Amino acid sequence: MTEFVIHGGRKLKGSIAVQGSKNGALPLLAAALLVCGEVVIENCPQLSDVDCALDILTYLGCKAGRSGNSVAVDCTGMCAHDIPERLMKRMRSSVVFLGAILARAGCAEMTMPGGCMLGPRPIDYHLDALRALGAEIAAEGERLLCRADSLRGCDLFLPFPSVGTTENAMLAASAAQGTTRIMNAAREPEILDLAGFLNAIGIPVRGAGTTVIEVEGGCRTHGARYTVATDRIAAGTYLCAAAACGGTVEITNARPEHMAALTNALRHAGCDILEKLGYMRLTAPSHIAPVGIVETRPYPGYATDMQPPLMALMCTAEGTSVFIENIFESRYNHMEQLRRMGADIQSEGRFAAVHGVARLTGAPVTAPDLRAGAALVTAALGAYGRTEISHIDHLERGYERMDETLRRLGADVIRREQ
Ligand code: EPZ
Repeated sequence: MTEFVIHGGRKLKGSIAVQGSKNGALPLLAAALLVCGEVVIENCPQLSDVDCALDILTYLGCKAGRSGNSVAVDCTGMCAHDIPERLMKRMRSSVVFLGAILARAGCAEMTMPGGCMLGPRPIDYHLDALRALGAEIAAEGERLLCRADSLRGCDLFLPFPSVGTTENAMLAASAAQGTTRIMNAAREPEILDLAGFLNAIGIPVRGAGTTVIEVEGGCRTHGARYTVATDRIAAGTYLCAAAACGGTVEITNARPEHMAALTNALRHAGCDILEKLGYMRLTAPSHIAPVGIVETRPYPGYATDMQPPLMALMCTAEGTSVFIENIFESRYNHMEQLRRMGADIQSEGRFAAVHGVARLTGAPVTAPDLRAGAALVTAALGAYGRTEISHIDHLERGYERMDETLRRLGADVIRREQ
């Protein structure tokens, strides 16, 4: 088991460039299956979830290799259409391979995906969308058997703007005859990356970033090179950490236009934030103010992935903040761990009231999931004394060399194997 040992209380100061987006890169690796030829994905973060996607591609018979942050994939030799359970369970994003494998092979077999434990995470919207496009899907216990002799473009209305469903629908629609219109589509920046990549390989996609996306299916695809956007959640986590420590941090490759809901909250907390094209700088106030009520919503609302780090920051605000988690049923796994560090948080169902205390104190804690782990790092950096965070394998699914990045900003963080 690997852990972080953090001695808190040092101000963060300096300049960083943030990794490429995890949730942006993963669907692109699935989309590589639509091409017989090489695609190159630049700015692809070095994370265990990305390694899992590369392992899936290799299992399917594709060539996949990395040189630094550039990943080259050639799916010409794809010779399997199933994904074994051991790969499916490693991450949630394995489910977007369903639409891509169906599009490429006309059949797919897999089990239910894994991923962070955030309450029930069904895939009914995904399956309904694929069925509407012409797939026949049989579920045998945990196993899914899918066939689509021919996919047909259609009008799809999503019951909720689910990110993964929008991605799966876009991937399957790429091979469907005719045009597919996805209504009530997710508008997250990661959808823009997938649309940009599909356009680059020859599949016309219009409307990404709005609630209606049109995909023109059945076009001939070709190799391409595509650069993934900066990870807005990783960037936001480093800003929360800087705010918790009382420092000044600049991000030299930020996409502030993707982070408006977070910057709005951080400004409420008293942070001074300078935004320019491709750049952000945060200067923390001497005392953090409470942010009032923060409700997580689909983009452009406040991102559920940024709820845990902001909650960690609010633990030492001068007053009470209220969180309402609307996206996942059980996304307060960090709360119990933050309480071990002295946080005063009460919760009832989707609601959590955080009463700021003067200071958190270091303690041994466990990262229960990826963003909950990010909350613990944020809290530990601002806390008095030493915090040991175990199970940082969760963190390494989404943050590239987080300890090195934080040390560059002056934090006292050691990563060690136990
Ligand atoms: C993506 O998950 C992200 N993961 C999540 O980030 C992120 O929190 C989430 O979108 C919301 O922004 C990836 O991109 C890999 P959804 P996804 O489908 O696609 C319900 C992280 O930490 N739902 O938009 O799984 C679902 O249960 C991760 O990086 C159904 O009911 O999210 C949830 O309550 C965690 N049926 C809500 O919709 C379905 O078929 C939103 O899920 C699909 C979803």
